[in-house]
Amino acid sequence: MNPKMEKYFEKIKEKYAASRPNSYKLHKEAIKYLPGGDTRTATFFLPFPNFIVRGEGAYMYDADGNKLLDFQNNYTSLIHGHGHKPTVEAVQRQMALGSAYTAPFEAQIELSKLLTERFPSIDLIRYTNSGTEANMHALRIARAYTGKAKIIKTEGGYHGTTDVFEASVDPNIKKAGTLDEIKVIPESRGVSANALKDVLVVPFNDIERTRKVIEENQKDVACIIIEPIMGSAGQITPDIEYLKFLREITTEYNIVLIFDEVVTGRLSLGGAQKHYGVTPDITSLGKIIGGGTPVGAFGGKKEIMEMYDPRQKKMYHSGTFNGNAVTMAAGLAAMSAYDQEAVDYVNRLGKKFKDGVLDIYSRLGLNMQVSGEGSIYNILFTDKEVKNYRDVAAAHEELNKILYLDLLTRGVFDAERGMFCMSTAMTESDVDLGLGTLEAVSYTHLRAHET
Ligand SMILES: Cc1ncc(COP(=O)(O)O)c(C=O)c1O
Repeated sequence: MNPKMEKYFEKIKEKYAASRPNSYKLHKEAIKYLPGGDTRTATFFLPFPNFIVRGEGAYMYDADGNKLLDFQNNYTSLIHGHGHKPTVEAVQRQMALGSAYTAPFEAQIELSKLLTERFPSIDLIRYTNSGTEANMHALRIARAYTGKAKIIKTEGGYHGTTDVFEASVDPNIKKAGTLDEIKVIPESRGVSANALKDVLVVPFNDIERTRKVIEENQKDVACIIIEPIMGSAGQITPDIEYLKFLREITTEYNIVLIFDEVVTGRLSLGGAQKHYGVTPDITSLGKIIGGGTPVGAFGGKKEIMEMYDPRQKKMYHSGTFNGNAVTMAAGLAAMSAYDQEAVDYVNRLGKKFKDGVLDIYSRLGLNMQVSGEGSIYNILFTDKEVKNYRDVAAAHEELNKILYLDLLTRGVFDAERGMFCMSTAMTESDVDLGLGTLEAVSYTHLRAHET
């Protein structure tokens, strides 16, 4: 970051802090009990996070009374924004009847019917409490089904916070080797080096390099796990040929193809798999399917998923809150309301947002990328087309941080990495408001950059 921009960033931090004295007080209090005052790394940012008091529709209100247009929606999990009436009513009704039973109940059938009918790959499904857990089970069943142990993931792919998936999620590319020989880099201290021995990392959208890794290791590889659109890496969209190639080669070598659709599940009624026309063996879901409550799910072909049938005594899968009554009620209400009309609506808002951002940047003479598809996009400060993690890592990430704080200070809440996600609670005028604020911010950035 050049010194002018650094000075500008400092000024925004001061402005942000001045407009949030109550959040600052709460942050100081939180630090006494939580490391850094935080219990989720992805919600922390400097100088201190904004404390939220309530959400309503497309907006949130913070502890200082600032009104924030929410383009983040709890990292894409709130498809209907905050306080979606049918979901709130379903949860209230269910809470009064009991939040969790040590027994199955009807709403589990109803939500499962809806999801299995929508997602082409899912014949049978099971629930967990997070997307992380869903992926852990997707991996476990791939291992059980194939009798093999290794896993192939993409560089920059995020599948949750657990050892084996925390390989090369956001690595320093200077230390990550060449694309021909990507080094597996742990994302956090404490990740088991032994667990990472089972992991091979390939570049997204790169058929030849991926083919080489698969062919050299196919005897040991149980699964390939992939986000059809790489979300946390920067909403990198796939070449359809790459997805088709993965489908073909995994079938050839008895490797289970897992689509992590925890985020992309919203792209169409049947997720990215329906949208791109490529059907994996196993799919993991999460986020929107819980209607704003903690959730995850994994499902797939009958012949694979049947191994979880307790009568077969092959696989063990428990969890006190798996498929609990509140999550099922909330999920059913939210997903029933997320019908084709709602999918088209958020995707239309998304297109309006993307076109609007590109228009702003072209009028400002800035060469930028807006990656993503459907209702989720990422602003990337690079003039190069983005195909894989390294293309994003080469962009100016620090400019996203400035943009984030600048927008937040002015009442627009996106993700620090530049991700914007639409909800059905948003109107076209909300998107216009976001674009107007973005334009004002971009002018100031440009001036700070130039002077
Ligand atoms: C693609 C993807 N997979 C898995 C996860 C993990 O889900 P959870 O945070 O519910 O554990 C996330 C979370 O952001 C995700 O983006």
